[in-house]
Amino acid sequence: MNHPMTYLLRCVNCGKEYVPDRELYTCPDCLDRMGTLEVVYSLTSKTQWYRSEYPGIWAYADLLPIVKDPLPPSLYVGNTPLVRAPRIEREFGIQELWIKDDGKNPTASFKDRASVVAIAKALEYGYTDLFAASTGNAASSLAGLCAPAGLKAHIYLPETAPEAKIAQLLIYGAQVFAVRGSYDEAFDLSLREGFQKGWYCRNSAINPYLLEGKKTGTFELIRELNMRAPDIILVGVGDGTVYSSIHKAAEELAQLRLIGRIPTIIGIQSEGANAVCRTFYRGEPFTPADIQDATSLADSIAVGKPRDVIKACQWAERHNGFFLTVSDEEIGKSIVELARASGVFAEPAGAAAYAGLKRLKDEGFLNAKARVALMITGNGLKDARAAVPYLAERVIPVSVEGIREK
Ligand SMILES: Cc1ncc(COP(=O)(O)O)c(C=O)c1O
Ligand SMILES: [Zn+2]
Repeated sequence: MNHPMTYLLRCVNCGKEYVPDRELYTCPDCLDRMGTLEVVYSLTSKTQWYRSEYPGIWAYADLLPIVKDPLPPSLYVGNTPLVRAPRIEREFGIQELWIKDDGKNPTASFKDRASVVAIAKALEYGYTDLFAASTGNAASSLAGLCAPAGLKAHIYLPETAPEAKIAQLLIYGAQVFAVRGSYDEAFDLSLREGFQKGWYCRNSAINPYLLEGKKTGTFELIRELNMRAPDIILVGVGDGTVYSSIHKAAEELAQLRLIGRIPTIIGIQSEGANAVCRTFYRGEPFTPADIQDATSLADSIAVGKPRDVIKACQWAERHNGFFLTVSDEEIGKSIVELARASGVFAEPAGAAAYAGLKRLKDEGFLNAKARVALMITGNGLKDARAAVPYLAERVIPVSVEGIREK
């Protein structure tokens, strides 16, 4: 690929624009959280938003910050199934319900879209090692995608991360630090150590390119719907990057006049980890709500100090999006109901989108013409036991003669 794309990085707080640089992650004036950077392209009539000759998410190269070869092995990131769920449409009385099943990515979460772009940047800048702090998915994704690229992944995660997620990291050959603390504490530790060691940073919101990779989920969704964007898109929110990426993708398509209207994008948080929601409802100018001791059944969105909170709130404000919180019980039951109604088994953070849909129905927000999409961001097998307490059914012990045991 010989791709001449040029772009700048703009601070979401002070608006200053920077020329990209190997060491530049956040605005030097506004610092982390307040001063996250956003990639700005000059879109022109020559921008070709979809290039069928490139594999996987690289088909969207004109809208990605990729400047040169070598591209990392894509391992078929993206092109995940878009599943229609007629049983949910009938039950909710809506016209269309689409599920973007991103748990079908190579390492089973949406995060692969971001990791592969981070790896492309690391290769461009000549790094051999990358680090990330993660609730689990960004880590396994980085580890899994570094492996074929011959790069080393260094991972910091809370020791409470589900066992299957930790095992996945070790299997891919990552160096793993299980931090005796929260995700937020693991995040801060990773920054101190990772930069000191001279590794490339794949931490949410610190690295401005992750959001760009995440946009490809929305590009695919809208392309598969023949450029008829849904009215409503729901997604679970942790740091706020995926949520922002949906808006940015839709806005870029609107700028290119490929879609007429930006969908209403609704971010779902869990009651025990709702800092983005609290920040949003305090209103502009957005300043991060108090740091929370976050707990949630949805470990992937159990974030007490969201790093992309300013961006997420700004995007919501700009396009009339908003945030809802749901309880752990609603999330747990949603895993079961979604699996039974659609066949898609989501991890808790993914099923949060469905819990949000149920809320919208209860609050009379949905109408018979509504076309809705759920971004299901992680596979249920990542944390298969999470929903077990919400199941009415139990296994039936039975003797080899077929007699049911009490
Ligand atoms: C499965 C899943 N869903 C949703 C999210 C939320 O993404 P973000 O942190 O970008 O808000 C994450 C992030 O960790 C995730 O792993
Ligand atoms: Zn700034």
